[in-house]
Amino acid sequence: MGGTMPNPTLESSSAKTETSAHAKPTLLDAIRKIFSKTQDADEQKVVARRRRFVMAAVLGTLGVNFLMFLRFFFPRALYEPKTTFKIGYPSDFGFGVDTKFQNQFRIWVVRNTEGIFVIYAVCTHLGCTPDWKPSEHKFKCPCHGSGYDSEGINFEGPAPRPMDRARVELDPEGEIVVDLSHLYRWPKGERSQFNDPGAILRV
Ligand code: FES
Repeated sequence: MGGTMPNPTLESSSAKTETSAHAKPTLLDAIRKIFSKTQDADEQKVVARRRRFVMAAVLGTLGVNFLMFLRFFFPRALYEPKTTFKIGYPSDFGFGVDTKFQNQFRIWVVRNTEGIFVIYAVCTHLGCTPDWKPSEHKFKCPCHGSGYDSEGINFEGPAPRPMDRARVELDPEGEIVVDLSHLYRWPKGERSQFNDPGAILRV
């Protein structure tokens, strides 16, 4: 008699909750699920991309550091062009201007009635390389128009003096040795060094 009477309202509410918990997924749930999956996939792609970027940055930094580390094992040598070199025998050069060493050594070899000398192919205005113009029989500087005759003597344009000449001598085998570290000049108003020993080979 003293037992508790069942509450019909509570029973019905719990039944409803059970029903909704086991309810079949609706179309809306399915769409939500698809969207959440797509979002997850996009996030994973972004994360993977960031990871690749970070890896590339780390590997790049390590690579640069490694190269700098390797650099210590090599001497800091300057590979400057040779200033002393051989150009052949006097009989290899006929009268006039020979330009075959212009690109390799930046010189022209000239033979006239007095002998053989070597012009250093540098314009005395601002250092451009003039061009030999066989038809006009002169050197012409492409930079500001200085002109030099076939012996490198300036006669037009802003060049202040003739082009310099390099030291020349014969080695024991009779080959011509040119030394560009020793130049002969003819500064304006001063004595010409072009007849000094070493400036011309009397051959
Ligand atoms: S550098 Fe040759 S004319 Fe100026």
